[in-house]
Amino acid sequence: MKNNKFSRRVQQIPRSAIHEMTRLSSTIDDVAFLSWAKPTSDTPLHIKEGAIEAIKEGLVGGYSTSSGLPELRQEIVKKLDRDNNIDANISQIIVTVGAIEGLVSSVLALIDSGDEVILPTPTYSTHIQQVVISSGKPVLVPLIEKEGYALDIDAVEKAITPRTKAIMYCSPNNPTGTTFTEKELRKLADVALSNDLMVITDEAYEYFVYDGSKHFSIASIPEMSKNVISCYTFTKTYAMTGWRIGYLHAHEDIISQITKIHIPLSICVPVVSQYAALTALKGSQSCVTQFKNHYLNARNLMCERLDKLDSVFQYVKPDGSYLMFPRILVEEGKDSASFCKKMLREVKVSTTPGIAFGPTGESHLRLSFCVTENEINKAFDRMEDYFK
Ligand SMILES: Cc1ncc(COP(=O)(O)O)c(C=O)c1O
Repeated sequence: MKNNKFSRRVQQIPRSAIHEMTRLSSTIDDVAFLSWAKPTSDTPLHIKEGAIEAIKEGLVGGYSTSSGLPELRQEIVKKLDRDNNIDANISQIIVTVGAIEGLVSSVLALIDSGDEVILPTPTYSTHIQQVVISSGKPVLVPLIEKEGYALDIDAVEKAITPRTKAIMYCSPNNPTGTTFTEKELRKLADVALSNDLMVITDEAYEYFVYDGSKHFSIASIPEMSKNVISCYTFTKTYAMTGWRIGYLHAHEDIISQITKIHIPLSICVPVVSQYAALTALKGSQSCVTQFKNHYLNARNLMCERLDKLDSVFQYVKPDGSYLMFPRILVEEGKDSASFCKKMLREVKVSTTPGIAFGPTGESHLRLSFCVTENEINKAFDRMEDYFK
């Protein structure tokens, strides 16, 4: 096979460590699985019924407008006003194939070859890959772990060069579970505005925040209206991973450019999923509270179990998402990929190596608490035996 058969952009991307752990885990029986950031609950019944109704009524066989059903975008506008303090209208919304398509369409709409995107890390590795496949250059700026994975605003400012186009972050954060504070994000907005940079946000875990922390959307700052693209999803909020539906919000001038990417990538989001999402927004939100309470209990249990392993792991208690990112204190943890593979082989516990989230993630592992309490106990019983 010719060396140059595949693009340099695609060859630069390493195999996903998350998928690699999933693949290895599938070869072993009875694994305690803490490596996937995927809700284990099924989509609530009333949402499924909304989709079935739309199918029966013959509403889902054709394309919708590429930006999404107007009635869905209208409900999204209401939600942005109610929960994000964002004053939007429907021409500022594109319904996307999950948050993922919104994010990659945004990056492709902004980035030329060699343009730089600043990413506070550790971060969701897909963001880094999205910059790479857009021929941009990811510039990784470490979060401050000893301050609870806080944003390092000074370091972000120092990382800006004439090639910097955007700052991209997720809050609540995958993998650290940190919710960036309003104060931090206001400072970040000042930096973006004074350097005329775009900010791309990934707010996938917006509803899963704990201990009195509050999710803050940077797009609620009126001065940011032409400098921010905010990406959201139904995936986590309503346990709708497989429906592949999310949306983004931005100023109309930005939307018109992103639409040029969104159409060749997707034409539109599957219409059946749009009806499911419409039902989700119009219906009772009690399922979201139930999911949140479940994750909170699971987080508390995971922290209690980690406390008993304090010579092996040191952690920042997550106040958001359903993920956490402990540092591995033992010598063998310096290579997180080998450490995670060894734990899988020897104690059948599947976790994700921190290196998958950028170099600052090395010597850590990501644990997911969107699992049952039984699964957490099974994993930690085994780890306690192993590290005895
Ligand atoms: C931070 C973050 N953003 C986006 C996604 C994917 O979202 P979607 O399913 O809406 O594409 C994930 C999935 O794990 C995630 O953790």
